[in-house]
Amino acid sequence: MSLPPFFYQVFESLPRQGPGCTGATKHVFSLLPPLPDDAKILDVGCGSGTQTRDLAALVTGIITAVDNHQPFLDILNARAKEAGLQGKIRTVNASMDALPFEPGQFDLIWSEGAIFIVGFEQGLSLWKPFLKKGGYMVVSDAAWFVSNPPQELVQWWEEKGYVPGTEGQLREQIEKTGLRLVATYRLPEAGWWENYHVPMLARVDELRKTHGSDPVCAALLDSFVEEAETYRKYKSDHGYTFFVMQKP
Ligand SMILES: C[S@@+](CC[C@H](N)C(=O)[O-])C[C@H]1O[C@@H](n2cnc3c(N)ncnc32)[C@H](O)[C@@H]1O
Repeated sequence: MSLPPFFYQVFESLPRQGPGCTGATKHVFSLLPPLPDDAKILDVGCGSGTQTRDLAALVTGIITAVDNHQPFLDILNARAKEAGLQGKIRTVNASMDALPFEPGQFDLIWSEGAIFIVGFEQGLSLWKPFLKKGGYMVVSDAAWFVSNPPQELVQWWEEKGYVPGTEGQLREQIEKTGLRLVATYRLPEAGWWENYHVPMLARVDELRKTHGSDPVCAALLDSFVEEAETYRKYKSDHGYTFFVMQKP
């Protein structure tokens, strides 16, 4: 997926590039059994890595954080260094559909808000071989919370090019990949506002001053405002759900 450079100008300075929050990362991590002291963890589509640093504070092992946008990895490396976590995080610039790792080596694969790039079932199938037998996979992705979502909302997602499944449909996709579903958790509303939409909307206001007269940039900025408004209007119909799975 290739995105316009201006897209990155909006997101590079933000704490996150997708919905999520430290509280949710910690809660979902607490649903896993204890990991080995030397656990190997893979964070796919890490962005500038707020969840990577949150995980690093929770584990004793090493986290390999993958993204295909080097500036995000540079920010993650700098923030990890500031937090004294540089020895626990290694960044790798690679595509999530061609991961450069040996099979069967990770105890945990984690991915927040990024699996939509390859598609839910496809992502699970692509990443499962990299897990050890008995290893865990945690992903968050968009999901319908109702069986009959409003047409306007369905159309908004269709225009974005990614239509979520209901949580039931996503469970069926998990079953098809041979992973065992252990738990699910819906990202709370705070995970959309505090570290995602609030800083994103502030950045949009800032960039309107410098780029608002360029129609391409203005349209992209409008789409971010629309995204936040769509979430606010339909927050009981859709959201993000974490799926905790195990490779049998
Ligand atoms: C919506 S962001 C989520 C980032 C982060 N996990 C978070 O929750 O803040 C998706 C991330 O996937 C990365 N990405 C996009 N296409 C990718 C690909 N083919 N391979 C690896 N990373 C990719 C983007 O650069 C971006 O950092």
